[in-house]
Amino acid sequence: MDKNQLITAINQLKCQKNAVIMAHYYQDDDIQDIADVIGDSLALAQEAAKTEADIIVLCGVHFMGETAKIICPDKRVFIPDVNAGCSLADSCPADAFEAFVKAHPDHTVISYVNTTAAVKALTDIVVTSTNAVGIVNSLPKDEKIIFGPDRNLGNYINGLTGRSMLVWDGACHVHEQFSIEKIIQLKKQHPQAKLIVHPECKQVLQTMADFIGSTSSLIKYAKRSDCNTFIVATESGILHEMNRLCPDKTFIPAPPDDAMCACNECAFMKMNTLQKVYDCLDKETPEITIDPHLQALALKPIRRMLDITAKLSI
Ligand code: 13P
Ligand code: SF4
Repeated sequence: MDKNQLITAINQLKCQKNAVIMAHYYQDDDIQDIADVIGDSLALAQEAAKTEADIIVLCGVHFMGETAKIICPDKRVFIPDVNAGCSLADSCPADAFEAFVKAHPDHTVISYVNTTAAVKALTDIVVTSTNAVGIVNSLPKDEKIIFGPDRNLGNYINGLTGRSMLVWDGACHVHEQFSIEKIIQLKKQHPQAKLIVHPECKQVLQTMADFIGSTSSLIKYAKRSDCNTFIVATESGILHEMNRLCPDKTFIPAPPDDAMCACNECAFMKMNTLQKVYDCLDKETPEITIDPHLQALALKPIRRMLDITAKLSI
């Protein structure tokens, strides 16, 4: 099938099966264009919690599909490619995290959504980069906290909130890979440009930023800013939504360190294709399944996140 035929076939299957397609901002343009919902990690979880569809096709990476399944155990959740993992989630094996948690029994455990169900099951409150600062600020000042797995996000939150959370030493290989030298060059070439940075990036890049925020926050900032040019330090798929919302502005992807390529892509996110979206809707595989006991344990901290976030009106 060519691209148009695939899009028609996906839409037909979606109607027949009462399915909804949800996509993260890092997905290929074609996938963002056919999705019913495009969002950041928080929006995808919030949409999963309220969807009336029978089937969710989660176009993102494995932990995003798993999060949707934890929230909606009675729905069927498919992901286009079961091998679409996450280096950040991989940097936090559940057994090692469990030992860390057990070594600090008087601490509240906060985990970034980029974790496996097994890590979420060890967690008190899940957060995303959109609500992490608000959720930490909602806790008493003297509360002892473990934060995992992203060291850059954890240290960023510590800096903003004045906390001393114990931070797990994990990271996202995509966000740690930006080239400071190439970004300095870009800033010289575009002196008016604002540098906007995801908090999973290294601290040295955060200190150069005009604005730091989650994917949805970066998009909102670009939209309301008077500035016309932005150097964007996060996965380059986000430029599709930025260009769609702000066609008169210029978005320059921040380049990675070691590649010839000018933009920084997450190879896991880019495993998904239109063909795989069609195949997973048609063949109803790969499907996310979770042991019911683990699902119930992992749901509690996600519910807490959704409840606190609703009060923060994010
Ligand atoms: P957000 O969509 O929450 O900003 O997360 C970015 C990310 O790395 C997702 O994998
Ligand atoms: Fe994971 Fe990083 Fe890819 Fe996001 S960009 S899915 S954190 S590897």
